[in-house]
Amino acid sequence: MLTSFDFIENFNYQNIIETLQKGQAIILIKNFPLLDYEFQSFINSIGNAVKENRNNCRQEIFDVKISKQNNFFTSIANSPLAFPLHTDCADFDTIPNCVGLLCVEPAIKEQGANNFISLDKIISQLPETKIHDLLNKKWKFRNQSRSILSVDNGSFKICYDRITIESFSEINDKEIEELNNLDKIFETNSFKIKLKKRDLIVFRNDLFLHGRDEIDINSKRVIKRIRFNVS
Ligand SMILES: [Fe+2]
Repeated sequence: MLTSFDFIENFNYQNIIETLQKGQAIILIKNFPLLDYEFQSFINSIGNAVKENRNNCRQEIFDVKISKQNNFFTSIANSPLAFPLHTDCADFDTIPNCVGLLCVEPAIKEQGANNFISLDKIISQLPETKIHDLLNKKWKFRNQSRSILSVDNGSFKICYDRITIESFSEINDKEIEELNNLDKIFETNSFKIKLKKRDLIVFRNDLFLHGRDEIDINSKRVIKRIRFNVS
């Protein structure tokens, strides 16, 4: 579930690309340099980084840290709140298939751990009828109408972000219960990774759900994020 490399010792681009293409494991690279250009050039050596307007200088990196404007947190990513398991960019026209998170400053103690569940694990926990439902029923992710599960080239893909579903459309009681049941399955089968300073993790956004635990409001935690595509 976790494949580890060391940036100084045994790091090899081809290994990382192949591991990401297989999509079975989360990749941890220890001792990664804390420089934006190193992060950007690493990601662009294994895939294609996505530029977004909200990123630093509208480029490829976004700083996940507590940040307020006029007393409001600038986004959920910039708040101390826990993040339930989700897919990034579930409402984008094209969803990036990978995410990289570089730990610049960890949260103290056990706070702010990242949570993951693999799609393989999810499938193994669901009865056939439920899988069939999730392949067929469309949910509204802002302007996109998508099923939670899909099949691409003979393998399953997942797209799930309850916050986006519930923020932009009304769902009925039966649907709330359906999502509650799913969240329960995701949560009970998820595992935690507590990032240390200079840990970089890269993972498939279409084959893993990710989330994070709550952090203290005064936390100095800084995680740099790049979303990207591997082919
Ligand atoms: Fe996310």
